[in-house]
Amino acid sequence: MKTEIALMSEKQLDMHALEKAGRILRQGGLVAFPTETVYGLGGNALDPAASEKIYAAKGRPSDNPLIIHIADMENLRKIVLRVPPKAENLADRYWPGPLTMIFDKAACVPYETTGGLDSVAVRMPSNRIALELIRQAGGYVAAPSANTSGRPSPTLASHVAEDLSERIDMIIDGGMTDIGLESTIVDFTENSPVILRPGYLNQQMLEKVIGAVRIDPGLSSVDSKVRPKAPGMRYRHYAPRGELAIVEGSVEKVVDRINELTRRRLKEGAGVGIICTDETLGSYPVGKVKSIGTRTNEESIALHLYQVLREFDEEEVDYIYSESFHTPRMGQAIMNRLLKAAGHEIIET
Ligand code: TXA
Ligand code: MG
Repeated sequence: MKTEIALMSEKQLDMHALEKAGRILRQGGLVAFPTETVYGLGGNALDPAASEKIYAAKGRPSDNPLIIHIADMENLRKIVLRVPPKAENLADRYWPGPLTMIFDKAACVPYETTGGLDSVAVRMPSNRIALELIRQAGGYVAAPSANTSGRPSPTLASHVAEDLSERIDMIIDGGMTDIGLESTIVDFTENSPVILRPGYLNQQMLEKVIGAVRIDPGLSSVDSKVRPKAPGMRYRHYAPRGELAIVEGSVEKVVDRINELTRRRLKEGAGVGIICTDETLGSYPVGKVKSIGTRTNEESIALHLYQVLREFDEEEVDYIYSESFHTPRMGQAIMNRLLKAAGHEIIET
């Protein structure tokens, strides 16, 4: 299958291409598109065959449910049984935006889309290209991140092409995403709301609107019996090809340790990558050193994390040592992704 690429920006939508993309989706095809978080691989959420195609294109296990993307609030009520008042409040405050909420699903949502679950994840993205595409497609677009299963999520259309070229009908290239990490997921199917995946919106930001929100204990547990509730959080699915370890401690100790480890691996003849920030870029004399941003702007760190992991994949390094990024607002989300990519491999200094 030839994959068509359509180039546009949020400021200048190409309506002709968007109509075509909408038609492809309504006819059961697949279109990758930008959102404010990461690129999504879209298919018609109410068409079981389209969902199956998404799983096949990504090589994703079909018990890992998809998020339904909507563009209009009235469409939410058609795919869920009920919307709790707190969810309504979060939607008022943060939709459109990087928030996914989980509800009991209505009968019209196929089990193929929800990975066999009776609940459904829903998000209204803020990217204008995404919103227009969803409307053109009829209102309900199932979209996981547009990477092959096991690779970092795409923040550029070129990442999508790397993974999915020839496997999908179209890629809409809308430039780099704004945030670079997937949406915050909040589960509303239990008595009280629970964060199943941290993201740009953190616990405090949610609690300001609806009061207490718990964090899924499975997220921080290394005990395999306490599993995360979101099936996708159970897999080590942001894994780079090189063996990644995160080094924790004070800046000086971390720099010393990474330099020591790098030298040792280089001596063995291995390729080594180092992930740091602008502040320490000059402190690593050997190895392939990449800054992912600056500690004075944590959003720059979130935005470049996946890109840097992909670059190291391409450069085929054998080992990657990363500084840790416990930044104030998004630190939880950044470290959650990094720890997953590292298979929880931490080196304490
Ligand atoms: O920012 C995002 O959310 C991106 C963009 C494209 O919107 N999408 C995304 O989708 O990250 P995906 O499929 O890569 O991640 C969806 C996560 C998975 O961990 C999945 O297990 C979880 O959401 N999920 C979906 N439906 C669920 C449900 N009914 N119950 C529990 N977890 C669910
Ligand atoms: Mg994903």
